[in-house]
Amino acid sequence: MKKLGILLSGRGSNFEAIADNVAAGRIPAEIAVVISNRPSARGLEVARQRGLNAVCIPSKGMEREAYDRLVVAELRKREVDLVCLAGFMRLLSPYFIREFPLKILNIHPSLLPAFPGLDAQHQAWEHGVKISGCTVHFVDEHLDAGPIIVQAAVPVLNDDTPETLAARILKEEHRIYSEAINIVLSGKFHLEGRRVVFDD
Ligand code: GAR
Repeated sequence: MKKLGILLSGRGSNFEAIADNVAAGRIPAEIAVVISNRPSARGLEVARQRGLNAVCIPSKGMEREAYDRLVVAELRKREVDLVCLAGFMRLLSPYFIREFPLKILNIHPSLLPAFPGLDAQHQAWEHGVKISGCTVHFVDEHLDAGPIIVQAAVPVLNDDTPETLAARILKEEHRIYSEAINIVLSGKFHLEGRRVVFDD
């Protein structure tokens, strides 16, 4: 059984959606560890309640690579095969990326490369786009930038607020993150440049 490591910083709803699909047998893997850089992350508490290994490694005041070495050591200890960033609000160091080549995924609440960074749903709403969505991509050392695995689009409606748009996007996030995990776990894809091409 492949082992997932989940990294989060907050609410953890994407983590919960993944955990539900793992529990239901829709993702052929187990969650080996959930790591948060913030002690107060709700996702950490949810992981504990679910009986998962929940570990806090506080990042405050730490230099990037020194911090990443602690996280990588924990992931290695748990023999993690695939790292899933689920609202983990930190850039990873080149060291971390090298340790898990094509084995780190991230979810972002916009149709990348539009609106990277913080508050993507608000950025999209304010910009006035008519369609937004979410993206699961491989992680590289740049912000919200690696090869795209799955995207989903949602309409932006006239009476949307950033909050109603975010809720519509979040529903799709919960669906496509598990889909992307299954594609990567299956190994049935290859890269052509930065294009992720599915093998069947
Ligand atoms: C999600 O909307 C995720 O796409 C976003 O943070 C939220 C975390 O929610 N991630 C980013 O913006 C990464 N750049 P969650 O903790 O409930 O999964």
